[in-house]
Amino acid sequence: MNVRDLLNTRVQAALDACHAEGTAGIQTAGKPEFGDYQANGVMAAAKRQKRNPMELAADVVGALQLDDVADSIDIAGPGFLNIRLSTNFIADNLVLGTPLLEAQDPPQHTVVDYSSPNLAKEMHVGHLRSTVIGDAVARALEVLGHRVTRQNHVGDWGTQFGMLLEYLEETDGANSASDELKDLEEFYRRSRERFTADDAFAQRARAKVVALQRGDENVLAQWRHFIDVSLSHCDEVYQHLGVTLSRADVMAESAYNEDLNNVISSLAQQGLLTESDGAQCVFLDQFKKKDGEPLPVIVQKSDGGYLYATTDLAAIRYRTHKLGASRVLYFTDTRQVLHFKQVFAVARTAGFTTDDASLEHMPFGAMLGTDGKPFKTREGGVVHLTDLLNEAEQRAFELVSEKNPTLTETERLEIARVVGVGAVKYADLSKNRGSDYVFDWDQMLAFEGNTAPYLQYAYARIQSLFRRGDISVQSLDGTLRPSEPAERDLAIALLRFQENVELVARDGYPHVLCAYLYDLTTKFMRFYEQCPILTAQSLSARDNRLRFSHRTAETLRAGLSLLGIETVDRM
Ligand code: ARG
Repeated sequence: MNVRDLLNTRVQAALDACHAEGTAGIQTAGKPEFGDYQANGVMAAAKRQKRNPMELAADVVGALQLDDVADSIDIAGPGFLNIRLSTNFIADNLVLGTPLLEAQDPPQHTVVDYSSPNLAKEMHVGHLRSTVIGDAVARALEVLGHRVTRQNHVGDWGTQFGMLLEYLEETDGANSASDELKDLEEFYRRSRERFTADDAFAQRARAKVVALQRGDENVLAQWRHFIDVSLSHCDEVYQHLGVTLSRADVMAESAYNEDLNNVISSLAQQGLLTESDGAQCVFLDQFKKKDGEPLPVIVQKSDGGYLYATTDLAAIRYRTHKLGASRVLYFTDTRQVLHFKQVFAVARTAGFTTDDASLEHMPFGAMLGTDGKPFKTREGGVVHLTDLLNEAEQRAFELVSEKNPTLTETERLEIARVVGVGAVKYADLSKNRGSDYVFDWDQMLAFEGNTAPYLQYAYARIQSLFRRGDISVQSLDGTLRPSEPAERDLAIALLRFQENVELVARDGYPHVLCAYLYDLTTKFMRFYEQCPILTAQSLSARDNRLRFSHRTAETLRAGLSLLGIETVDRM
């Protein structure tokens, strides 16, 4: 049940009944002591009608039908409505054994373009954000019943592959190809070195690019081998990260090669192409440089080569026309904001997208070190994701061993994996993606505050409660009926799961779900301190509190799993 939507509908109906123009504007209450939700829309509606907001608010309350939902509606300040949910409504909607989430209607088909690394190099921290944020949003959409097509738009084409393949051939002479490719970053560095140091090598590398583009079978085979090895590196990282991407989701840049000349000819036919310095460009009125000069979208270079934007135009056509997606989401860093604005605008103008499809770039900021500079190794190199995750597990292992020396090493290793990887992902997901964020080991592994370990620990604590009481969940079926204030606060938090997941699916900001889970956990901890569970006064109070605990654990597990984070039963 999405309580916020329900209240929006009801208050909207009341506004309509009062002939007031405007929206209900339901939000979580800023001051929980006055209510659970507030409606903010009355003031604006009153202004439009040139009416006293307090008077209109009184009329709206008069017309408002919320008997089955709320036990009080108060008018506050300049015309807010404070709404307090009734105990019956809460209990009716919190029933153990019922699903935590319901599907949205109608279901939509959404393409989620995320991770999408360039395969010439190894995955590094620069790919972390797109991979984990995109994955969380894809999961949220899916759990709400939408159809999701993941698209890993990997960069597998371009001039650097000439250099890499030439170097592969050179080292392959010693038959060490598989070894050489173990560390792609190293391999890239060494081939780059060869390329700059040796003219003959560079010439052969350029010839390779030409042969590759011409479709020379031998070169293509070398290229396929290289891409396959590089994708295996990605698969390892995805698996380690617990990300849902598989080979089936790879739709590489090269997959659009055949279609690129169609993109150009279609633009030409529609009279949208202008030649500028030998390059084919699209000029649109809305894109100007700072000095007012028109800013082109280049779609074909003077040597006939295509660009990143050309491929994206082909991809939009494929995703909307061929796959029939009604939304396409892109997760890249903020440096590509202009690129997507331009590509979306060209696609609209040229009809490469269906009319009703929504193209949405979901940009994110950079990952910084604790010094506030881009996150690097101590030597100033790029941090490989594999190394980062290994370090996270190691640090978590030390922490877990310190806290729980009696657990076996196997248990501690498993907990360390779940906590370490979870901490890295959560640290990223819990920050508003719009800004840069500081990667800080101590903060993300803390057992206090808005961190994965804090939430995972709360989950484990609830499991241990059930172990201690030797309680089977089956025996508990029934509603959660709050009576103590701490129970009520927890109940309201539990009720808000649906609306928060829906927000993530709509806006693509997973930090909203993190903030929700953190709030839920804080409420649970307070409940746990204030309301004795196993030693409750009566059996019915005990069972009711056990239901609260179990529902909290289920919500935490489901919420973390939407973020791609696991839980453990003890830690
Ligand atoms: N490969 C690109 C990069 O590493 C990201 C691709 C994003 N997706 C897209 N359709 N352009 O920057």
